Amino acid sequence: MTPNLGYTRFLFVRGCRDDDATRVKLKAAGDGVARGFLNAFEREGANSDAPSLETVQFLSLNGVGVDAAPTHPARYAVQANSRYRPRLDELEKELRRRVGDVGDVDTLDGCLRAPQYTSANVATFAYEQARAHGNGRAMANAIILPMRKSADWWAMPDLERHQYFYPHHDAKTGHHVAGHAALGRGAAQHIYRRLYHNPHGPGRSGEWDFITYFECQDEDLPLFDATLTAMRDVERNPEWRFVEEGPMWRGRRVLRW
Ligand code: HEM
Repeated sequence: MTPNLGYTRFLFVRGCRDDDATRVKLKAAGDGVARGFLNAFEREGANSDAPSLETVQFLSLNGVGVDAAPTHPARYAVQANSRYRPRLDELEKELRRRVGDVGDVDTLDGCLRAPQYTSANVATFAYEQARAHGNGRAMANAIILPMRKSADWWAMPDLERHQYFYPHHDAKTGHHVAGHAALGRGAAQHIYRRLYHNPHGPGRSGEWDFITYFECQDEDLPLFDATLTAMRDVERNPEWRFVEEGPMWRGRRVLRW
């Protein structure tokens, strides 16, 4: 079993009403919850979720590109990171208490793990040369996309799954395909990217296996969209045959709500 290196929780806050009084209350709730956590908005360089730190990142809906949301999307979100899950439980409890009955809070839980499919060669461009974490003014956009993979994926031997991340021969179409890492290569230096795993492991009914999280500058949003389009193209990336995407949330990084 791969160890969990650090924990993250995304908390989405949806006001029951869309009026000023509700917004004031929700903003105040945000101000009150993050005591003792470092605000990642101002942080540059190191990863925002380095397990040695406890950080929060406040996020606010921009209303653009949010899809598949079952009702109206959450106007506010916050990501909290800690090596200790009880710290995230405390933050969640405090947020729920402060939001009270003016809104609903939904959560997504993830953890950091060591890469599983990454050769030294891929590590060079996918991680060493990857876009470093920037402050929230420069890297203003945040995208959260939970995903799961099918039972067929998890039933595959570990070594067989590796091929999907590399250029390979697709047995289904008979074509040579680029695969995940090569399709992402051009975006790696521009888009800050984090992959979180389900802390309880993959393949759990009704749960997401992964939360993918991205930050980028305004001018790189088209690059993000093009990369996601490429990932979804099973002719170029057969891995996506096994993928079910959850609701995507797109917003802005903010210092406070
Ligand atoms: C549109 C954006 C992207 C999405 C939605 C996405 C999603 C994911 C997911 C869900 C995984 C885990 C798959 C699994 O373990 O079965 C993964 C792994 C990986 N991704 Fe991406 N990705 C994206 C962009 C990129 C980019 C730009 C790169 C840069 C090269 C990249 C490189 C990798 C690598 C190397 C792995 C393997 C990690 C490991 O060794 O465990 N991805 N990605």
